Amino acid sequence: MDLKQYVTTVENWPKEGISFKDITTIMDNGTAYKYATDQIVSYAKELGAEIVVGPEARGFIIGCPVAYALEIGFAPVRKPGKLPREVISADYGLEYGKDTLTMHNDAIKPGQKVLICDDLLATGGTVEATVRLVEQLGGQVVGCAFLIELTELNGRAKLGDLDIKTLIQY
Ligand code: PRP
Repeated sequence: MDLKQYVTTVENWPKEGISFKDITTIMDNGTAYKYATDQIVSYAKELGAEIVVGPEARGFIIGCPVAYALEIGFAPVRKPGKLPREVISADYGLEYGKDTLTMHNDAIKPGQKVLICDDLLATGGTVEATVRLVEQLGGQVVGCAFLIELTELNGRAKLGDLDIKTLIQY
């Protein structure tokens, strides 16, 4: 299946000059959403992933069905103030300033094999901060899966030699 045909490009959103990749037109097509999920499930099986980790909000949309299909757990990565128990935090750089991601401090068991899932690999800042959180908890990131990769932004460079799978490239 050519998944790219289900992505809608929205020009100049959320601001002038941005060519936004809207994945809702993959999700609202049951065949395309299942196909995309199945690709990542196969990848996760190859890696022997034991838990899926996904950053809010679109990482939940990609990661949760993968965890369900594999009958493994899902641990959310959230912006500050959203998780109710004790958290660890990681800062990451934005174009202007910084943002912070958090995880519950017991979300990953030491040595657990982790697959990180998100919709988009752009600059790689979000996933790099997520890797730091997982590793701080003693988890082993065995792979990172994304629906879309914006290759010009070279997010892969931030991820060293981590295993990365992307289903659609621009
Ligand atoms: C988007 C996207 C990825 C991240 C990719 O999330 O869903 O998580 O940006 O960009 P990066 O590789 O440059 O870090 P956003 O922060 O917009 O959050 P949202 O999913 O809650 O809209």
